[in-house]
Amino acid sequence: ETPVGHTGKPLLTKESKPVKIAIVGIGNVGATTAYALLLSGLAADIVLIDVNEKKAQGEAMDLNHAVPFSHPTKIWAGHYSDCEGAAIVIIAAGINQKPGQSRMDLLKLNFGIFKSIIPEIVRYASDSILLIATNPVDVLTYASWKLSGFPTNRVIGSGTALDTARFRYLLGQYYEVDPQSVHADIIGEHGETELPVWSLASIAGMRLEDYCREAGKDFDSKGMLQCFHTTKNAARDIIQLKGMTDYGVAAALVRIVETILRDENTLLTVSTVGPHAGVDDVCLSIPTKVNRGGANHVLKVMLNSEEQKALLKSAESVKAAMDTLNF
Ligand code: LAC
Repeated sequence: ETPVGHTGKPLLTKESKPVKIAIVGIGNVGATTAYALLLSGLAADIVLIDVNEKKAQGEAMDLNHAVPFSHPTKIWAGHYSDCEGAAIVIIAAGINQKPGQSRMDLLKLNFGIFKSIIPEIVRYASDSILLIATNPVDVLTYASWKLSGFPTNRVIGSGTALDTARFRYLLGQYYEVDPQSVHADIIGEHGETELPVWSLASIAGMRLEDYCREAGKDFDSKGMLQCFHTTKNAARDIIQLKGMTDYGVAAALVRIVETILRDENTLLTVSTVGPHAGVDDVCLSIPTKVNRGGANHVLKVMLNSEEQKALLKSAESVKAAMDTLNF
């Protein structure tokens, strides 16, 4: 007789869809993200979509030659119709900063691109989660939300997830600990008005000043400020040296994909549609619980008054940029 608890139906049937991730925009960030995603083994299908079809085909061909060293993954250059059934659509389409340019300088042109691509993505992947990387990412996350009509939990910008990683890396270097043992967030705009949450920064549950005492170090507030400034200026400095950034943001995007696909409930400083800091419908990065439903819970972090003021300034700066958009 049927053993107890045996439902007789396998959960995974031949109708079950393999996990598909679509990447729209196969420039440096899109291509590096595709490579990082392949190496992660998280996706069974990766489809690359770019207005420059030859570029997408070339990247797909090259990536397929990494498959034997990685995971059996189907990678192909496709069209918007290939977004059908995608769990997540990563959007890295648009121009990136050139030396001397700010992220906001890219808004007009990249918003124009989003106005044409978001409806196409929605047409074929209306149940997907949109994961936006294109800058200015906060304003374009808002634009994607407005243009797609998706609920806020299914429209996520990489936001300051990258800045928080940079910050934790630098603090880890400074305190000679694994960056994963450093809990310190950068929140707000992914850009000029981002801010460090010093009041909640900790190592092994100890505030940084207390950790210094334990480690027999002097607490050096100048050194801390330098860690933040290096974080905030990282993209500018890297772009001066190599012309663009891609590895850091690609790793951040794959981490966000991982916590969605594996339903991990990881707290990440990703960008979502507010209200934030008392400003309605603005996209900012705040520690957010991310899982299979997308961005599922934005924490009400206990900021001190200085941090609250800086976050409000950040919200107003992003809102001012959003107000220039004509949908
Ligand atoms: C950076 C880009 C992704 O910060 O905005 O590297």
